[in-house]
Amino acid sequence: MAATLTSKQFKDIAEVARAKWGLNLTEGKSVLVQNRLSKFVLRSDYESIDAYLKHLHGKPTEDDLLLFFDLLSTNTTSFFREMNHFKHLQNVVYPRMVESRKNRRLRVWSAACSSGAEPYTLAIHMLETLKDASRWDVRILATDLSKKSIDLARAGVYPAKMLEGQPTNIVRNYFEKIGAAEDAQYQVRADIRSMVSVQQMNLMDRWPMKGPFDIIFLRNVMIYFDLDIRTRLVTRMRDLLTPDGVFVIGSAETLSGMDVGLRSEIPSVYVKGDE
Ligand SMILES: C[S@@+](CC[C@H](N)C(=O)[O-])C[C@H]1O[C@@H](n2cnc3c(N)ncnc32)[C@H](O)[C@@H]1O
Repeated sequence: MAATLTSKQFKDIAEVARAKWGLNLTEGKSVLVQNRLSKFVLRSDYESIDAYLKHLHGKPTEDDLLLFFDLLSTNTTSFFREMNHFKHLQNVVYPRMVESRKNRRLRVWSAACSSGAEPYTLAIHMLETLKDASRWDVRILATDLSKKSIDLARAGVYPAKMLEGQPTNIVRNYFEKIGAAEDAQYQVRADIRSMVSVQQMNLMDRWPMKGPFDIIFLRNVMIYFDLDIRTRLVTRMRDLLTPDGVFVIGSAETLSGMDVGLRSEIPSVYVKGDE
Protein backbone atom coordinates (compact mmCIF):
# COMPACT_ATOMS: atom_id res chain seq x y z
CA MET A 1 0.00 0.00 0.00
CA ALA A 2 1.28 3.47 -0.88
CA ALA A 3 1.27 5.51 2.35
CA THR A 4 1.19 9.30 2.61
CA LEU A 5 4.30 11.41 2.48
CA THR A 6 5.43 12.82 5.83
CA SER A 7 6.72 16.38 6.00
CA LYS A 8 10.20 15.03 6.88
CA GLN A 9 10.13 12.81 3.78
CA PHE A 10 9.04 15.74 1.62
CA LYS A 11 11.82 17.91 3.09
CA ASP A 12 14.39 15.21 2.28
CA ILE A 13 13.08 14.88 -1.28
CA ALA A 14 13.16 18.66 -1.75
CA GLU A 15 16.76 18.79 -0.52
CA VAL A 16 17.90 16.08 -2.94
CA ALA A 17 15.96 17.63 -5.84
CA ARG A 18 17.59 20.99 -5.23
CA ALA A 19 21.12 19.69 -4.71
CA LYS A 20 21.13 17.38 -7.71
CA TRP A 21 18.86 19.02 -10.26
CA GLY A 22 18.19 22.57 -9.07
CA LEU A 23 14.47 21.88 -8.63
CA ASN A 24 12.80 24.15 -6.10
CA LEU A 25 10.09 22.01 -4.50
CA THR A 26 8.22 24.34 -2.18
CA GLU A 27 5.74 23.07 0.45
CA GLY A 28 2.90 23.73 -2.00
CA LYS A 29 4.24 20.95 -4.24
CA SER A 30 3.94 18.31 -1.51
CA VAL A 31 0.56 16.97 -2.69
CA LEU A 32 1.69 16.84 -6.30
CA VAL A 33 4.85 14.94 -5.33
CA GLN A 34 2.87 12.56 -3.14
CA ASN A 35 0.40 11.84 -5.95
CA ARG A 36 3.17 11.11 -8.41
CA LEU A 37 5.06 8.88 -5.98
CA SER A 38 1.85 7.02 -5.05
CA LYS A 39 1.02 6.31 -8.68
CA PHE A 40 4.55 5.12 -9.33
CA VAL A 41 4.65 2.90 -6.22
CA LEU A 42 1.32 1.29 -7.15
CA ARG A 43 2.66 0.09 -10.47
CA SER A 44 6.10 -0.85 -9.10
CA ASP A 45 7.42 -3.64 -6.88
CA TYR A 46 7.86 -1.27 -3.93
CA GLU A 47 5.46 -1.84 -1.02
CA SER A 48 5.10 1.81 -0.13
CA ILE A 49 6.47 5.30 -0.73
CA ASP A 50 8.56 4.74 2.38
CA ALA A 51 10.13 1.58 0.91
CA TYR A 52 10.85 3.41 -2.34
CA LEU A 53 12.47 6.35 -0.54
CA LYS A 54 14.54 3.95 1.60
CA HIS A 55 15.80 2.37 -1.61
CA LEU A 56 16.77 5.80 -2.94
CA HIS A 57 18.57 6.58 0.33
CA GLY A 58 20.60 3.37 -0.02
CA LYS A 59 22.63 2.77 -3.14
CA PRO A 60 20.44 3.90 -6.02
CA THR A 61 21.72 3.37 -9.56
CA GLU A 62 21.96 6.26 -12.01
CA ASP A 63 18.80 4.92 -13.69
CA ASP A 64 16.96 4.90 -10.33
CA LEU A 65 17.85 8.54 -9.85
CA LEU A 66 16.82 9.51 -13.37
CA LEU A 67 13.48 7.80 -12.88
CA PHE A 68 13.06 9.70 -9.62
CA PHE A 69 13.89 12.94 -11.45
CA ASP A 70 11.18 12.15 -14.02
CA LEU A 71 8.67 11.66 -11.20
CA LEU A 72 9.46 15.12 -9.84
CA SER A 73 9.72 17.15 -13.03
CA THR A 74 7.36 18.06 -15.88
CA ASN A 75 8.03 17.44 -19.56
CA THR A 76 5.17 19.32 -21.20
CA THR A 77 6.11 20.58 -24.64
CA SER A 78 4.64 21.06 -28.11
CA PHE A 79 5.54 21.96 -31.68
CA PHE A 80 5.61 25.69 -32.48
CA ARG A 81 4.99 26.47 -28.81
CA GLU A 82 4.93 30.23 -28.07
CA MET A 83 4.79 31.30 -31.69
CA ASN A 84 5.75 34.90 -30.82
CA HIS A 85 9.34 33.68 -30.32
CA PHE A 86 9.48 32.12 -33.78
CA LYS A 87 7.91 35.23 -35.35
CA HIS A 88 10.62 37.35 -33.75
CA LEU A 89 13.32 35.02 -35.07
CA GLN A 90 11.78 35.25 -38.53
CA ASN A 91 11.18 39.02 -38.59
CA VAL A 92 14.14 40.37 -36.64
CA VAL A 93 16.80 37.85 -35.63
CA TYR A 94 17.32 35.90 -38.86
CA PRO A 95 17.41 39.01 -41.10
CA ARG A 96 20.02 40.50 -38.71
CA MET A 97 22.06 37.30 -38.76
CA VAL A 98 21.87 37.08 -42.55
CA GLU A 99 23.61 40.48 -42.55
CA SER A 100 26.19 39.71 -39.87
CA ARG A 101 27.01 36.01 -40.44
CA LYS A 102 28.97 36.12 -43.67
CA ASN A 103 30.16 32.54 -42.97
CA ARG A 104 26.51 31.44 -42.92
CA ARG A 105 27.05 29.48 -39.73
CA LEU A 106 24.43 29.22 -37.01
CA ARG A 107 24.73 27.40 -33.71
CA VAL A 108 21.64 27.00 -31.60
CA TRP A 109 21.07 25.35 -28.22
CA SER A 110 17.68 24.13 -27.09
CA ALA A 111 18.40 23.61 -23.39
CA ALA A 112 15.80 21.51 -21.55
CA CYS A 113 14.39 20.33 -24.87
CA SER A 114 12.08 17.67 -23.36
CA SER A 115 11.03 15.14 -26.04
CA GLY A 116 12.34 17.27 -28.90
CA ALA A 117 9.42 19.31 -30.24
CA GLU A 118 11.35 22.52 -29.53
CA PRO A 119 14.61 21.75 -31.39
CA TYR A 120 12.74 20.18 -34.32
CA THR A 121 10.47 23.24 -34.49
CA LEU A 122 13.61 25.40 -34.62
CA ALA A 123 15.00 23.31 -37.49
CA ILE A 124 11.75 23.27 -39.48
CA HIS A 125 11.04 26.94 -38.88
CA MET A 126 14.58 27.83 -39.93
CA LEU A 127 14.19 25.99 -43.22
CA GLU A 128 10.90 27.79 -43.77
CA THR A 129 12.04 31.30 -42.89
CA LEU A 130 15.84 31.74 -43.04
CA LYS A 131 16.86 33.14 -46.43
CA ASP A 132 18.76 30.49 -48.46
CA ALA A 133 18.55 28.16 -45.45
CA SER A 134 19.90 25.18 -47.38
CA ARG A 135 23.19 27.06 -47.92
CA TRP A 136 23.69 27.61 -44.18
CA ASP A 137 25.71 25.44 -41.83
CA VAL A 138 23.18 24.98 -39.04
CA ARG A 139 23.63 22.83 -35.94
CA ILE A 140 21.08 22.61 -33.18
CA LEU A 141 22.14 21.12 -29.86
CA ALA A 142 19.24 19.70 -27.86
CA THR A 143 19.80 18.75 -24.22
CA ASP A 144 17.69 17.52 -21.34
CA LEU A 145 18.33 15.48 -18.22
CA SER A 146 15.29 13.22 -18.58
CA LYS A 147 16.37 9.92 -20.15
CA LYS A 148 12.80 9.17 -21.17
CA SER A 149 12.58 12.53 -22.97
CA ILE A 150 16.01 12.21 -24.56
CA ASP A 151 15.13 8.78 -25.99
CA LEU A 152 11.95 10.23 -27.50
CA ALA A 153 13.84 13.23 -28.89
CA ARG A 154 16.45 10.97 -30.50
CA ALA A 155 13.78 8.85 -32.17
CA GLY A 156 11.80 11.93 -33.25
CA VAL A 157 8.59 9.91 -33.31
CA TYR A 158 5.40 11.58 -32.08
CA PRO A 159 1.75 10.59 -31.67
CA ALA A 160 -0.60 12.13 -34.27
CA LYS A 161 -2.19 14.14 -31.44
CA MET A 162 0.99 16.21 -31.08
CA LEU A 163 0.64 17.42 -34.65
CA GLU A 164 -3.04 18.30 -34.46
CA GLY A 165 -3.57 21.91 -35.48
CA GLN A 166 -0.24 22.19 -37.33
CA PRO A 167 -0.44 23.41 -40.95
CA THR A 168 -0.88 20.52 -43.41
CA ASN A 169 2.17 21.55 -45.43
CA ILE A 170 4.40 21.44 -42.33
CA VAL A 171 3.22 17.91 -41.49
CA ARG A 172 3.48 16.78 -45.12
CA ASN A 173 6.91 18.30 -45.78
CA TYR A 174 8.73 17.52 -42.55
CA PHE A 175 7.20 14.34 -41.09
CA GLU A 176 6.74 10.76 -42.23
CA LYS A 177 3.67 8.85 -41.19
CA ILE A 178 4.46 5.49 -39.66
CA GLY A 179 2.12 2.74 -38.47
CA ALA A 180 -1.50 1.91 -39.16
CA ALA A 181 -4.06 4.68 -39.60
CA GLU A 182 -5.79 4.30 -36.23
CA ASP A 183 -2.59 4.52 -34.17
CA ALA A 184 -0.38 6.33 -36.68
CA GLN A 185 2.68 8.15 -35.45
CA TYR A 186 4.77 10.75 -37.18
CA GLN A 187 8.54 10.73 -37.41
CA VAL A 188 10.51 13.88 -38.10
CA ARG A 189 12.18 13.50 -41.51
CA ALA A 190 15.76 12.21 -41.37
CA ASP A 191 17.31 15.38 -42.86
CA ILE A 192 15.66 17.47 -40.12
CA ARG A 193 16.80 15.03 -37.44
CA SER A 194 20.34 15.28 -38.80
CA MET A 195 20.36 19.04 -38.05
CA VAL A 196 19.79 18.27 -34.36
CA SER A 197 22.24 16.66 -31.96
CA VAL A 198 20.46 15.28 -28.89
CA GLN A 199 22.48 14.92 -25.67
CA GLN A 200 21.56 14.01 -22.14
CA MET A 201 22.80 16.67 -19.75
CA ASN A 202 22.06 18.04 -16.30
CA LEU A 203 22.00 21.85 -16.44
CA MET A 204 23.45 21.90 -12.92
CA ASP A 205 26.61 20.04 -13.97
CA ARG A 206 29.69 21.14 -15.86
CA TRP A 207 28.91 21.52 -19.54
CA PRO A 208 31.13 19.82 -22.12
CA MET A 209 30.44 22.33 -24.87
CA LYS A 210 32.28 25.59 -25.26
CA GLY A 211 29.94 27.43 -27.64
CA PRO A 212 29.58 30.06 -28.80
CA PHE A 213 25.90 29.86 -29.62
CA ASP A 214 24.02 32.37 -31.75
CA ILE A 215 20.72 31.48 -30.11
CA ILE A 216 19.90 29.75 -26.82
CA PHE A 217 16.38 28.63 -25.91
CA LEU A 218 15.88 28.05 -22.17
CA ARG A 219 12.12 27.93 -22.11
CA ASN A 220 9.77 26.75 -19.38
CA VAL A 221 12.37 25.25 -17.09
CA MET A 222 13.51 28.21 -14.96
CA ILE A 223 10.08 28.20 -13.29
CA TYR A 224 11.35 25.15 -11.37
CA PHE A 225 14.50 26.90 -10.10
CA ASP A 226 14.96 29.58 -7.43
CA LEU A 227 16.41 33.02 -8.19
CA ASP A 228 19.94 32.09 -7.15
CA ILE A 229 20.08 29.03 -9.43
CA ARG A 230 18.34 30.91 -12.26
CA THR A 231 20.87 33.73 -12.07
CA ARG A 232 23.85 31.37 -12.14
CA LEU A 233 22.37 29.41 -15.03
CA VAL A 234 21.54 32.44 -17.16
CA THR A 235 24.98 33.93 -16.49
CA ARG A 236 26.67 30.73 -17.70
CA MET A 237 24.52 30.72 -20.80
CA ARG A 238 25.15 34.41 -21.46
CA ASP A 239 28.88 33.64 -21.43
CA LEU A 240 28.33 31.02 -24.17
CA LEU A 241 26.47 33.43 -26.47
CA THR A 242 28.09 35.25 -29.39
CA PRO A 243 28.39 39.03 -28.78
CA ASP A 244 25.00 39.59 -30.48
CA GLY A 245 23.55 36.24 -29.37
CA VAL A 246 19.86 35.83 -28.61
CA PHE A 247 18.46 34.29 -25.44
CA VAL A 248 14.86 33.08 -25.26
CA ILE A 249 12.93 32.11 -22.12
CA GLY A 250 9.34 30.97 -21.62
CA SER A 251 6.64 33.62 -21.93
CA ALA A 252 5.63 33.06 -18.30
CA GLU A 253 9.23 33.53 -17.12
CA THR A 254 11.28 36.62 -16.44
CA LEU A 255 14.86 37.76 -15.98
CA SER A 256 13.79 40.55 -13.68
CA GLY A 257 15.86 40.69 -10.52
CA MET A 258 18.88 39.36 -12.41
CA ASP A 259 21.73 41.58 -13.46
CA VAL A 260 22.99 39.37 -16.27
CA GLY A 261 23.83 41.74 -19.12
CA LEU A 262 21.01 40.75 -21.45
CA ARG A 263 18.75 43.34 -23.07
CA SER A 264 15.09 42.61 -23.72
CA GLU A 265 14.06 42.90 -27.39
CA ILE A 266 10.49 41.78 -26.83
CA PRO A 267 9.08 40.12 -23.70
CA SER A 268 11.01 36.87 -23.04
CA VAL A 269 13.51 37.41 -25.90
CA TYR A 270 16.85 38.95 -24.95
CA VAL A 271 20.01 39.92 -26.79
CA LYS A 272 23.57 40.17 -25.56
CA GLY A 273 25.52 43.33 -26.41
CA ASP A 274 25.24 46.98 -25.37
CA GLU A 275 22.74 48.54 -27.69
C1 LIG B 1 8.36 21.91 -19.27
S1 LIG B 1 9.71 21.15 -20.09
C2 LIG B 1 10.15 22.44 -21.25
C3 LIG B 1 10.38 21.89 -22.64
C4 LIG B 1 10.64 22.93 -23.72
N1 LIG B 1 11.76 23.77 -23.40
C5 LIG B 1 9.41 23.75 -23.98
O1 LIG B 1 9.34 24.91 -23.55
O2 LIG B 1 8.48 23.22 -24.62
C6 LIG B 1 11.00 21.28 -18.84
C7 LIG B 1 12.16 20.36 -19.10
O3 LIG B 1 13.24 20.74 -18.25
C8 LIG B 1 13.98 19.58 -17.96
N2 LIG B 1 14.83 19.83 -16.79
C9 LIG B 1 14.45 20.18 -15.53
N3 LIG B 1 15.53 20.28 -14.74
C10 LIG B 1 16.62 20.02 -15.50
C11 LIG B 1 18.01 19.98 -15.25
N4 LIG B 1 18.53 20.21 -14.03
N5 LIG B 1 18.84 19.68 -16.27
C12 LIG B 1 18.34 19.42 -17.51
N6 LIG B 1 17.03 19.43 -17.81
C13 LIG B 1 16.18 19.73 -16.81
C14 LIG B 1 12.89 18.52 -17.73
O4 LIG B 1 13.39 17.21 -17.88
C15 LIG B 1 11.87 18.90 -18.80
O5 LIG B 1 12.02 18.12 -19.96
